[in-house]
Amino acid sequence: MRVPPATLLPLVCLLAACGSSSPPPEPESADVPDTVVMDDAPGFAPLATDQVIVAHRGASGHAPEHTLLAYDIALEMGAEYIEQDVLPTVDGELVVIHDDTLDRTARGPAENCTGRVDEKTLDQLKTCDVGSWFNEANPDRASDDFIGLPIPTLEEVFQRYGNAPEIKYYIETKPNQENDDSVERELLRLIVEYGLRDGAVNNRQVLVQSFIPTSLTNMNQLDPEIPLIQLYAAGATVTLAAAAQYAFGVGPNTAETNQQLVDQAHALGLAIHPYTINSTEDLEAVAALCVDGIFTNFPDRYRGVLTNNDYGCAAPIR
Ligand code: G3P
Ligand code: CA
Repeated sequence: MRVPPATLLPLVCLLAACGSSSPPPEPESADVPDTVVMDDAPGFAPLATDQVIVAHRGASGHAPEHTLLAYDIALEMGAEYIEQDVLPTVDGELVVIHDDTLDRTARGPAENCTGRVDEKTLDQLKTCDVGSWFNEANPDRASDDFIGLPIPTLEEVFQRYGNAPEIKYYIETKPNQENDDSVERELLRLIVEYGLRDGAVNNRQVLVQSFIPTSLTNMNQLDPEIPLIQLYAAGATVTLAAAAQYAFGVGPNTAETNQQLVDQAHALGLAIHPYTINSTEDLEAVAALCVDGIFTNFPDRYRGVLTNNDYGCAAPIR
């Protein structure tokens, strides 16, 4: 399995069962080989019959969202996919952060770490700490290891985790302008540069998701083979037939998720991955609908639900 940096192992071991450890791999250089070989066998190899565990913003119930530490912990806990929300900086880099603005999760110089992400340069954003807020919000789960964690770029995420088949990325696009496909172009460039396109096309190693249909159709025009997930906000009509024209699957809010929707999606050949479901009780209820996967802040809980129950579902679309 992917081994987190040695300095983080005590924390990860506190949160998840740890197996044998070996020295952590160094982040890949920008000169990425065709195939990255993991230095350890995967500890939680998913079966083709498993629902897919999507670590929502990483293991964000345990560590600050969209930090490399949250992704490390997610993988240690058996997540199949690590999720990234990507936003463009003013100088055209893709950074991994959920909100359009910095104020909720960033701490640091106000001129750099408040306001809109797309009005900052990457250099400005790199002065921000996106770990400390978690300690403020979750004193019961606080850790000194979270203080000072930086905003990663998507490229840094790809450099760290590479393109070995065990690593899967679930990337949400949030372009800041209509009629502008620069976010999708940069995302596709990085997918290709880091040797992830073949895995995406043949094994859904990368899924590109968005609430914004034009972002997905932009991506579809740039590369029709990249698998896409159409998201739906709470209360929005889930337009399955339209999505089936370009998407591999759909991501409804949990409020709209029921057996009829799951069956309708499957009848159209669409995978269905509801978001964001966190309690064990809710995870059990949604898994029992025979969804194909779930976004959760607690991949360990979902892993436990799938391990401890047999819902008699047909093999998921994956
Ligand atoms: O991408 C699925 C889920 O993450 C959508 O909600 O707001 O957390 O990005 P949000
Ligand atoms: Ca998201």
